[in-house]
Amino acid sequence: MSEASKTLKERKNQSFKIFDDIAGTYDLLNRCLSLGIDVLWRKRMMKELPSGDKLIALDLATGTGDVALELAAQERVAKVQGLDLSTGMVELGKKKIIKKGFAHKAELGIGDGVAVPVADQSQDVVTLSFGIRNFPDPELSLRNIHRVLKPNGRALVMEFGLPKNFLVRAVYLFYFRKLLPFVGNIISGHGDAYTYLNKTVEDFPYDQAFVQWMKDAGFRNVRAVSLSFGIAFLYIGEK
Ligand SMILES: C[S@@+](CC[C@H](N)C(=O)[O-])C[C@H]1O[C@@H](n2cnc3c(N)ncnc32)[C@H](O)[C@@H]1O
Repeated sequence: MSEASKTLKERKNQSFKIFDDIAGTYDLLNRCLSLGIDVLWRKRMMKELPSGDKLIALDLATGTGDVALELAAQERVAKVQGLDLSTGMVELGKKKIIKKGFAHKAELGIGDGVAVPVADQSQDVVTLSFGIRNFPDPELSLRNIHRVLKPNGRALVMEFGLPKNFLVRAVYLFYFRKLLPFVGNIISGHGDAYTYLNKTVEDFPYDQAFVQWMKDAGFRNVRAVSLSFGIAFLYIGEK
């Protein structure tokens, strides 16, 4: 294994620790570096909730709880549990949930997105946004998500991709490889938290390759929805 990929693997095992360091600036940087588009992507995700009401939802790698909050804001969702390994991110998320008045239906805590420590067949929907790319074993995570879903439950996974269009891709890659790490590292105050972001994205399966992973994990009717020219994808799979 090359030194670079070894470093990346080590970082994936420890990525939640980096998030502890950057938790304070995470939300601000998300909004700035995505030009606010990440908010629209999360709203788009909510359109794919399974049918029915009194939905029980689990948000993995919940971070500062943006998806958990979006879920809690949906009338059809009765209960949301958000899990993450970074105490710093979760503590900020908890404050946001209280501030937005959703403490009665949303709860955040510490939990691994790979092992998914919740009961089998207990969830109507499991969401996971911009987390699976950093998991040490993403395929095991998908199998565990499938395990904890009720029959007909849905997994909604959002992750970065790469634009297909040559021109959009070139502009985006310049931004992603050069500008974003520079600005991200300065604002977060962390020496290299954003240095490898592009590497983790460029090395990770997206579109039909990720769809195949979901099928292999047992999901049916798997779809990939391209967001903003393929900068991100929303993957939907049913149990
Ligand atoms: C880019 S943030 C995404 C946060 C949130 N889902 C969002 O969309 O803003 C990635 C999160 O994954 C968490 N994470 C990394 N490895 C994890 C693991 N094995 N289990 C749970 N969370 C993990 C990090 O702590 C971090 O909060």
